Amino acid sequence: MITLAPRHRSASLTRMVEYVLPQHANIGSTVFGGQIMAWVDLCAAICAQRHSGHPCVTAFVDDLLFKRPVRVGQVVRLRAQIVATFRTSMEIDVDVSGEDTVTGEVWPTVEARVVFVAMDEARKPAPVPPLLLESDADRAAQGAAEERRKARLAKR
Ligand SMILES: CC(C)(COP(=O)(O)OP(=O)(O)OC[C@H]1O[C@@H](n2cnc3c(N)ncnc32)[C@H](O)[C@@H]1OP(=O)(O)O)[C@@H](O)C(=O)NCCC(=O)NCCS
Repeated sequence: MITLAPRHRSASLTRMVEYVLPQHANIGSTVFGGQIMAWVDLCAAICAQRHSGHPCVTAFVDDLLFKRPVRVGQVVRLRAQIVATFRTSMEIDVDVSGEDTVTGEVWPTVEARVVFVAMDEARKPAPVPPLLLESDADRAAQGAAEERRKARLAKR
């Protein structure tokens, strides 16, 4: 069995910035929740692929809470980072903020947690490098993610 070298979280940290245009918005001129979900999925997919070195598919999206809207002309900022790795899957947190580039205000919009599975050339789940766990906080986060993983798999 091949043992993959652990990878640092910073190697896959992914940031995206999206300018909210009329085609992203509802009739109230605030961005569609589904549009934010699509950006969350993309940002987390890039993070998963950077970490694993494989194409990845979305396996599970945890509950999403939309805290405050973002309007046309404002900006959506996304930041995805790996929380934990399992054998072929990874748990990724995505923080989403709104930004008004005129006033400089920044506000939390969504916190999302997504699970991606790495796929090999035969479209079968592929082993991923473990996340480098450097601190007690890192190890606690991996432990908490293992509990969430059990709960997700129980829903299958
Ligand atoms: C996700 C998927 C690849 C899992 O395939 P599978 O045949 O169930 O494979 P396995 O049982 O070997 O599971 C593979 C990994 O997926 C994880 N997984 C499967 N279902 C899961 C779920 N509901 N929640 C979280 N992780 C899940 C397993 O825990 C395993 O990870 P691990 O190796 O780290 O433990 C498969 O269900 C699939 O292709 N789903 C559709 C994905 C998709 O189309 N996404 C949207 C477009 S990208």
